[in-house]
Amino acid sequence: MRAWTTTCLGSPRQALSFQPTRPVPSLPPTNPRLVLIRVTHSALNPADLVLLHTAPPWLPFRRSPVPGQDFVGEVVALPANPLPAELRGLRVGDRVGGATGLWDVALGRGSLAEYMVIDAGSVAVVPEGIESRQAVGLMGIAGQTAVEMIRRAGFVPGDGKVARVLVNGASGGVGTVLVQALKGMGKEVVAVCSAANAEMVRELGADEVIDYKVHDPLERHLAAEFGEKQFDAILDCVGNQALYAHSPGYLKPDGKFISIVGGWSQGIIPYARNKLLPVFLGGVPRSFHMFLLSASGETAKKAAQWFKQGLIKQVPIDSEFPLEQGIEAFEKLATKRAKGKIIINVAGTS
Ligand SMILES: NC(=O)c1ccc[n+]([C@@H]2O[C@H](COP(=O)([O-])OP(=O)(O)OC[C@H]3O[C@@H](n4cnc5c(N)ncnc54)[C@H](OP(=O)(O)O)[C@@H]3O)[C@@H](O)[C@H]2O)c1
Repeated sequence: MRAWTTTCLGSPRQALSFQPTRPVPSLPPTNPRLVLIRVTHSALNPADLVLLHTAPPWLPFRRSPVPGQDFVGEVVALPANPLPAELRGLRVGDRVGGATGLWDVALGRGSLAEYMVIDAGSVAVVPEGIESRQAVGLMGIAGQTAVEMIRRAGFVPGDGKVARVLVNGASGGVGTVLVQALKGMGKEVVAVCSAANAEMVRELGADEVIDYKVHDPLERHLAAEFGEKQFDAILDCVGNQALYAHSPGYLKPDGKFISIVGGWSQGIIPYARNKLLPVFLGGVPRSFHMFLLSASGETAKKAAQWFKQGLIKQVPIDSEFPLEQGIEAFEKLATKRAKGKIIINVAGTS
């Protein structure tokens, strides 16, 4: 099969190697949970780039790891023994999607290859009517993260809660899904992005768009405009520490600040301070939540359901590359300017 592998730590050009004739992986008889998928589409996430720089490819259990987490493809083989009861719905020939879990990433079982072996618990069937290149962004890391942020913010479809929500980083893979899903649930959405992406974000449903380049510092603008009509939740896809530090100026006292960027990647000190420092010692009197997504078939399924219910109408696609142009795709990701998802068309199909 054709596949990308990682040969050393570094930039995409240093770390990635294209293999035109790598052996197709087989299902090990010792693990009853693994399935073999013929990948048609993959999509990139910022974490894929981080892993090129940080996840050593020379560890004994991780030789020649294949990068890539998001996938859509067809189930081509199931284990010889029946899958565990909760996973038995899967059939050979099913079109499935999802993202690799942390263990798959650790072992280098990635999606930038024509075939991948993956834990059946990370896989969900793609419902009829969702194009594969849409499904790969929706059911992959970005869509699953948006679903999880909304769950942690305390919103569910049909909850009838009136809420004003700020989405910071609204034009990226996660933000574009967040804006639509929140709007689809009837929330008032205020979105932060640059002028270049404002029209797209408005079309996705944002009630108001704030250009972070014009309103710098953002927190001063928010305090002036939203001091009297505070947010119920702030969903931060950028990792803006000042946005949290000043949040009492525009986030309700019982509001939630949910971040997906920071922690170890920005140093553990701000995370620990946000999470643990009591108010009487200078802590910010607003609840702070941060998480690392644990991708699962269940969350992928929920993202697909929200699409079928019309809460999410589209996954904006920044660009699409054939598998052979993996390096160009990674270089696009590295610009941090993608408007939606960067898709890899692995099988070369529509
Ligand atoms: N914790 C987790 O489990 C988890 C899961 C998924 C993602 N993440 C992290 O979440 C972040 C977003 O992920 P993603 O997939 O949405 O990334 P992405 O698609 O690469 O985001 C790119 C977008 O970010 C916007 N952007 C960059 N700087 C900005 C700023 N200062 N203010 C507002 N927008 C800005 C860019 O718009 P402009 O060109 O207009 O600036 C661009 O449209 C990444 O850091 C990623 O690593 C974490």
